[in-house]
Amino acid sequence: MEFEPFLAYEASAGSGKTFNLVVRYLSLLFMGENPSSIVALTFTNKAANEMLERILLTLEELPTRSELSHIARLSGIDEATILQERPKILARFLRSDIQISTIDKFFGRILRKFALNAGLMPTFKTVQNHHESALLERFLNEVEVSRSSEALVHLSLLSDKRLSDLFTLLSTLYSKYKELNLEAYEGTEAPEESMVYAFELAGELSRLVLSKPLSERAQKTMQIESFEDLLGKTWLMKPSLEYWDFKKIYEPRMDELLREIQTAVASQMRRREVLYFKELLSILKLYIKSRHSMALQSNELSFDDITLNVHTLLREKLESEFLYFRLDSRLKHLLLDEFQDTSVIQFDILRPLIEEIRSGIG
Ligand SMILES: Nc1ncnc2c1ncn2[C@@H]1O[C@H](COP(=O)(O)OP(=O)(O)OP(=O)(O)O)[C@@H](O)[C@H]1O
Ligand SMILES: [Mg+2]
Repeated sequence: MEFEPFLAYEASAGSGKTFNLVVRYLSLLFMGENPSSIVALTFTNKAANEMLERILLTLEELPTRSELSHIARLSGIDEATILQERPKILARFLRSDIQISTIDKFFGRILRKFALNAGLMPTFKTVQNHHESALLERFLNEVEVSRSSEALVHLSLLSDKRLSDLFTLLSTLYSKYKELNLEAYEGTEAPEESMVYAFELAGELSRLVLSKPLSERAQKTMQIESFEDLLGKTWLMKPSLEYWDFKKIYEPRMDELLREIQTAVASQMRRREVLYFKELLSILKLYIKSRHSMALQSNELSFDDITLNVHTLLREKLESEFLYFRLDSRLKHLLLDEFQDTSVIQFDILRPLIEEIRSGIG
């Protein structure tokens, strides 16, 4: 029979995703598959434990379980034979190297196996978090050594963040690094500076409007102190100045100016954005560097460290074919529960494995 080797269940809560996974897992066992060749991954420890418990419980209580008929249908084996085989399958399952774990732990195993390729010690410990203060110290040292203190200060001014907030931001960006694709900004040119130009145009518009008889509140909103002040004006975002108190004194030249101002402001904002992200990226790279050297020195890795290292290992350092072959040539089936919680980077790591298993079936 046709048996898709990879399947992710995406359905609403309580709709039977885990039920289906258990059915699938047990069907594979009854079809003669070795438990060590089936990897079942979940997102949380709780879900992994639940998965294991449900498989065990279902095997133990199989004669009265509703899973039985589903297993029979999926495996093509009749219920009587399944029940007859059950004690043998259960014993084998309990003796086996069971591969039910969280995605994080699975990646930890991959990294341990290829630690030396990643420039790490295979004996590394997994920790929840690094010591914040030690990491901060190392990061600041890295910033100083690379003469980036000015960039760091500038960045904290631009983002209006204190150093500790910026540090938290860097840590978040680190865990989402591959997903955010900040590197895209590296090759992007920032538009020319147009702040002064925008401000001058705004001055011209202001003089034109204020030369007309105008209500007091409208006069007030046409007084522009600075570029930042200009950004706060409601009329800046309007498609036309022919509205509100301006309606009576409106002339087409006003909208011409408005459009020019809008273009100049947009360009300046784009410039800020590009410069900001470029600077952020350069600081983030220093942060990543300090995380790496921290991990090396303490021989401790957080789950984010592990995921990013596995991703780099796969994408840059090793032929993925080689990796997955060495990882486990027995591995034939990959079952994912809680698929909706899988991050882009996690899926990116799993994808070659999924394809590998698919092509192996051929
Ligand atoms: N096809 C089915 N036949 C009989 N019982 C089922 C079936 N599908 C699900 N159930 C039962 O419904 C309940 C919820 O199913 P399950 O835990 O598999 O849902 P889930 O989609 O994994 O939920 P969650 O989103 O909370 O993880 C369980 O008690 C399960 O035994
Ligand atoms: Mg579930």
